Amino acid sequence: MRQSLIMGNWKMNGSAESAKSLCNAIIEGLNTGDAGIAVCAPYVYLADLQALTADSPLAVGAQNVADQASGAYTGEISATMLKEFGCEYALVGHSERRTYYGDTDESVAARFCQAQAEGVVPVLCIGETLAEREANETFNVVNRQLDAVIEKAGIEALSNAVIAYEPVWAIGTGVTASDDQAQEVHKAIRERIGAKDQAIADKIQILYGGSMKPANAKGLLGMADIDGGLIGGASLDAQSFLDIYHSV
Ligand code: 13P
Repeated sequence: MRQSLIMGNWKMNGSAESAKSLCNAIIEGLNTGDAGIAVCAPYVYLADLQALTADSPLAVGAQNVADQASGAYTGEISATMLKEFGCEYALVGHSERRTYYGDTDESVAARFCQAQAEGVVPVLCIGETLAEREANETFNVVNRQLDAVIEKAGIEALSNAVIAYEPVWAIGTGVTASDDQAQEVHKAIRERIGAKDQAIADKIQILYGGSMKPANAKGLLGMADIDGGLIGGASLDAQSFLDIYHSV
């Protein structure tokens, strides 16, 4: 039985004050169950969150990580730095990074390896655009994004990683994938990993992301291959985020 994981992605929202109060409200309202819970916050709030979450089950993650270990890379944040601030997770390859900031399959694979080398669990985000879905390219796109990481890191690397399937057309649009649409892709991802290593496929957590809300979470999280959620908008409201967590 895989442990579920509910993870918030705050994106570029909030202030130092609101980040602290959101974090405190989540901790106060949390009835911890078997599922894991985490928030991926902007870098500059990580130190505050590290302190606030020290005695709580709420884990902290970053929204990206550099594809290099250290050196002359102005503006980048290394995995070593994330580790220093208590990050257990780092998102890599979020579609907003791929779309707006030029992250490629290759750089995402490098980020994945950098995180893992420091013991930060990479959360590999993959997913197709609407045009790609309409052109029946969903599986090709998701496979390509996944294979780039497997080629660089090796299949064993997935034994300590999380995957997030986030169809781009469902992110921030209010249009969520149906339970069956999401399950179909999650199953295919697990099968592709299973073709290389069944034990890793059985164990890896595959989260769904894209307009997950308290109202649709239960159905999605009830699907066989959906092991949790990566939640954007609804994670900015403590009650919505907790409602999703408590619906696991
Ligand atoms: P929304 O939940 O706002 O659609 O965002 C999903 C997402 O991108 C999480 O990483």
